[in-house]
Amino acid sequence: MKKLLLIFVLIITAGIAFAVTQQNTAPGENTVSNKKILIAYFSWSGNTKSIAEKIQTLTGGELYEIVPETPYPTDHEELTVIAAEEKEKNINPPIKNTVDIANYDVIFVGTPVWWYTMASPVRTFLTTNNFEGKTIIPFITHGGGGEYSIAEEMGNFAKGAKLLLPTFVVHESGNIETDENLKNWVDSLEL
Ligand SMILES: Cc1cc2nc3c(=O)[nH]c(=O)nc-3n(C[C@H](O)[C@H](O)[C@H](O)COP(=O)(O)O)c2cc1C
Repeated sequence: MKKLLLIFVLIITAGIAFAVTQQNTAPGENTVSNKKILIAYFSWSGNTKSIAEKIQTLTGGELYEIVPETPYPTDHEELTVIAAEEKEKNINPPIKNTVDIANYDVIFVGTPVWWYTMASPVRTFLTTNNFEGKTIIPFITHGGGGEYSIAEEMGNFAKGAKLLLPTFVVHESGNIETDENLKNWVDSLEL
């Protein structure tokens, strides 16, 4: 009887020790590699943001939202006119908040498709930072048109960066398979 009680106590103790170990993995801690990871993204209606947050959970990297100095209108029609003009005239809108990318090795770069290309604030981010020696990994959300040549364009704008492919491409914020696809994609990158 004493022996049984001892075994019972040992099992409970092991269970508690396991639970404590699990809790010690702090949120945000890099769980896939010892590389310093940044997840930079721009999002107007939330789709790219939701994918960025999932990548953050999977990689333990840090999130950085690219926020333009002048906010875009909340009206979709007004936005499409401004976005078209920015694309046509090659306008790179100034960014309100900066991040020191020297602190990171790997930078996920997320954008919605805007008129067959990346959203203009993402172009600003890529052209105003020094990507020498950095690895960039694009992820793209779209409204049905797919990825176009955005990954390649990102590689051209981010001078000195190594472009790591494949890109994660998803329609709007994804579907029931997106979480699994994202996990498989992150695993395949072998960070
Ligand atoms: C100004 C503008 C232009 C867009 N152009 C395209 C396009 O050319 N092709 C496409 O598939 N989707 C296009 N979309 C749809 C967005 O790419 C899609 O809804 C995306 O998931 C939005 O991401 P967000 O919620 O992070 O802003 C456009 C949306 C906007 C607002």
